[in-house]
Amino acid sequence: MYICICNGIREDELRRAAAATASGRHGDVEAIYARMGKRPQCRQCLDDAEEIVREEWQLTREPRLEAA
Ligand code: FES
Repeated sequence: MYICICNGIREDELRRAAAATASGRHGDVEAIYARMGKRPQCRQCLDDAEEIVREEWQLTREPRLEAA
């Protein structure tokens, strides 16, 4: 599914980019777009993109059980 139509950014691409960053704070979506070589245009995607970034950031911060 596309999150950003203007830039052709898919949800999975955004999730990978978000997981690779150290922060999910407000405003970081534009920084993540920039790292992807993109820039918001109409900006209609930013709320949904921010939610996805926040989800990925939380997932990467949760402790994971290691297989013994
Ligand atoms: S849909 Fe992302 S900038 Fe327009």
